[in-house]
Amino acid sequence: MTIRRMRVIGAGAMGRGIAQVAVTAGIEVELTDGVESAVDAGLEFVTAMIRRSAEKGQRTDAEAEAAIARLRAGAAPTAPGPDVDLVIEAVVERLDVKQAIFAELETATPNAVLASNTSSLSITAIAAVLDRPERLVGLHFFNPVPLMRLVEIVPGLRTGAEAVAVARRVVRLFGYTGVLAKDTPGFLVNHLGRGLPTEALQVLSETVAEPVDIDRIARDTVGLKMGPFELMDLTGLDVSHPVLETVFAGFYGDPRLRPSTVTATRLSGNLLGRKTGAGFYRYDGGIQQVPDEPSIDADPAAVVVYVNEDTALAELLRASGVRVLTEPTEHAVSIVSPVGTPTYRAALAAGVNPAHTIGVDPLSVAGERLTVVVPAMLDAAIGAAAARALAATGRRVTITADGPAPVAQRLIASIVNVGSAIAETGLADPADIDLGARLGLGYPRGPLELGDAHGPRLVVRILDGLLEYTGDPRYRASAWLRTRAELGMSLRDRGTRPVDLHVGREG
Ligand code: NAI
Repeated sequence: MTIRRMRVIGAGAMGRGIAQVAVTAGIEVELTDGVESAVDAGLEFVTAMIRRSAEKGQRTDAEAEAAIARLRAGAAPTAPGPDVDLVIEAVVERLDVKQAIFAELETATPNAVLASNTSSLSITAIAAVLDRPERLVGLHFFNPVPLMRLVEIVPGLRTGAEAVAVARRVVRLFGYTGVLAKDTPGFLVNHLGRGLPTEALQVLSETVAEPVDIDRIARDTVGLKMGPFELMDLTGLDVSHPVLETVFAGFYGDPRLRPSTVTATRLSGNLLGRKTGAGFYRYDGGIQQVPDEPSIDADPAAVVVYVNEDTALAELLRASGVRVLTEPTEHAVSIVSPVGTPTYRAALAAGVNPAHTIGVDPLSVAGERLTVVVPAMLDAAIGAAAARALAATGRRVTITADGPAPVAQRLIASIVNVGSAIAETGLADPADIDLGARLGLGYPRGPLELGDAHGPRLVVRILDGLLEYTGDPRYRASAWLRTRAELGMSLRDRGTRPVDLHVGREG
């Protein structure tokens, strides 16, 4: 089936964006809404956006005018439309409203594939009122639609192959990337996106580090473009806290997805983020106020150190003029490299004095920022001297309290584990999991790629350490991750499944 004519229902933020992308892709669009003035405002907005794109040189004036000519106001959301090939609904997020619209469309647009842009309702539930539920599919766009070139294609339990094929075709026509996700709470991207903020909030609530420190570690050691707290501030807690809650509730309280009282309280106090001028950061005139990096007077001679394990760190320190011993002594500061364990435990395991020992996250050593961990027994003067010696490396230094494991390790483990659990349940294919995270969440690497880069064994070691130390089932490694770690397989490898044996059941 070719897609020539499309109806968009709902001329709000999402419907406008979808209409804009569709007409620029060559599809005739009728824009409709329950409120007539919304249609006019929508047409005006899309027209202006397309003209502006021509001014910016993204298309010629002739192309822009041709696209605008393909856009018109429809008679009404459920007016007869026998020539409509595809309807995309983007009205208010209410099950009863969407069901009523699609029930009427069954006869009004008898030849169309029906699609809902719902972000949190079940496609199966919306389709339950239809005589032919196979016609309905989820097409979940992201905001703002013209910039976010990803679409989740969500078949409900009774969606037919034709509807999925049409959904794929329209996504391709748009020049967008489609990922296929099962009809589950949060679909793919909103579920994937839980790994980072839940663990960041857990770290914060343990008073291990401040939001600005966690964000810096997330950027410089985890390799994200934006830290979890800046991201929550940008999105607004009025949007992100409900997503945390609905995905957690939708999975009946899976501890891996557990939200935090931190965001609940902040939401109740209107500390939403950028939009209210106060969130995890302050905003003056809309500009994020970032606390300065701690000032540490670099001094390679501040202490003599013994580096217990990390040869790269020992080399770095030596090259920076710090005297590095190969055996611990009474006067040297010991530096341990905790992996999936608190620094004090790493000190005890190394047989060094925890009052004279700091931790440096080994994952931070390759990057531009060293994460220093301060165990509870540390002599403060010795810790300060050690920080001065570490600053002599020229790296930025972030100092955190001791916790069940260094911060970056916890963030990485949580992101990878949530992605792996999604792969395990067949909610999406490994390739789509990584694509969804890159295009939908802006991660430079998807969770499975991130896990492969650090090695699945290391991620399991961190999670097992966290689980053993805290007893919190939040840290149980998913079977997908553990299997691949133990077999030395890639997290992106689906492995051999029964169906691959091609010895199908009879009948
Ligand atoms: P919006 O509030 O900007 O626009 C909704 C439009 O639907 C309004 O113009 C309203 O007049 C119209 N409408 C309401 N009830 C109607 C009815 N019974 N019949 C016809 N029109 C009706 O909402 P927005 O943000 O565009 O969201 C629309 C849908 O897209 C929701 O299902 C939402 O969950 C989903 N979505 C929203 C995203 C976002 O970031 N805003 C992202 C992805 C999906």
